[in-house]
Amino acid sequence: MALLSKFDDLRAALHALAAGGRNPFNVRFEKISSATEAVLEGRSCLLFGTNNYLGLTFDESCVAASVRAVHADGTGTTGSRIANGTYGDHLLLEQRIAEFYGKRAAMIFTTGYQANLGLISTVAGRDDQLLIDADSHASIYDACKLSAAEIIRFRHNDADDLARRLARLEGRPGHRIIVTEGIFSMLGDSGKLREIANVKREMGATLIVDEAHSLGTRGKHGRGVGEDLGVESDIDFVVGTFSKSLGAIGGFVVSDLADFDLLRIACRPYMFTASLPPAVVGSVTAALARLSTDASLGERVRQSSVKLYRALLQEGFAVGPEPNAIVALKMPDKETAVQFWNRLLDQGVYTNLALPPATPGSLSLIRLSISAAHSDAQIETALVVMIAVGRELGVLGETPARVSA
Ligand SMILES: Cc1ncc(COP(=O)(O)O)c(C=O)c1O
Repeated sequence: MALLSKFDDLRAALHALAAGGRNPFNVRFEKISSATEAVLEGRSCLLFGTNNYLGLTFDESCVAASVRAVHADGTGTTGSRIANGTYGDHLLLEQRIAEFYGKRAAMIFTTGYQANLGLISTVAGRDDQLLIDADSHASIYDACKLSAAEIIRFRHNDADDLARRLARLEGRPGHRIIVTEGIFSMLGDSGKLREIANVKREMGATLIVDEAHSLGTRGKHGRGVGEDLGVESDIDFVVGTFSKSLGAIGGFVVSDLADFDLLRIACRPYMFTASLPPAVVGSVTAALARLSTDASLGERVRQSSVKLYRALLQEGFAVGPEPNAIVALKMPDKETAVQFWNRLLDQGVYTNLALPPATPGSLSLIRLSISAAHSDAQIETALVVMIAVGRELGVLGETPARVSA
């Protein structure tokens, strides 16, 4: 038997997908023209499938900081944070993140994926229990695999189910560690952090919140859903990423924990990988400064998200539960989703195709992301294309107005 025969089903699924037109997992952009436009298959297309929520990838101050850093400190650190990979700018960025969140300390990681992997697998030891939302991101699930703790899933966004599962642990030794997210990456729904924080307080647990998609897009100061819902003081660790609103790559954990720095010599995904390159540290520090000083970016992305979400709902699309910078269109089946995604791209609108098993409830989704850099005209163009394709493929249902009439 061939070594990779274990992936036969996956191979067949990929062939079926590619037969629908393109291979959605192998899109190659020929040129990235701006935060919202690219050249693909020789034609210009609108980008509605990135995580560039604040549109900072071409921001002048971020680009200049990145170029300055590469000239000053070179292309890479060639080492781990605990060896030769800590420069003054790594520490400065950690200080800035801690200040931004009003917390004691921050640790930066080479990716957001590693931030989850590192924090969760390190703080959850053999005798502890990890209680994770069932719809958690793959990095949280992978962190669980790396941890020696017992893993307990609670129903998505269901604080009562979480409380029931915590109650069953009464009398057992170990720390209970709850992990959830600010905004869930597939359907774009917010974590019910108020209810979950209440359970945490009443039953005694540590709370980790991944604000990957909510940093910059939610909260008055852009700190995420924890800030928006007024529960930041209940969150023991905020995890975040630099690869979305901050337009680069990397991740972080921020906390008030007194001996937080101990994690630096206990956390393997922090210790056994090279640190972020100077150019990235430079642009992220500049992007965080932009986010901290320009509230209009977050305002813009929120307004555009609500506008697009409402328009899609009004046209009869089955959308995710609430308007956020991720808007999901629920397709009736996998085949229609593939066709829909291809037809949008034929007409110059790039989105993400999200299929089971990577989606909650085995849904087939077209996942849109909205950026502060999208102009009203770009949003209107994308909407017109989506409505036309929606009509062509017969995916538009009853509109709310017609339903209530
Ligand atoms: C909720 C969530 N957490 C963590 C990550 C990982 O972040 P990164 O891409 O920066 O590694 C992602 C990435 O999509 C995510 O959606």
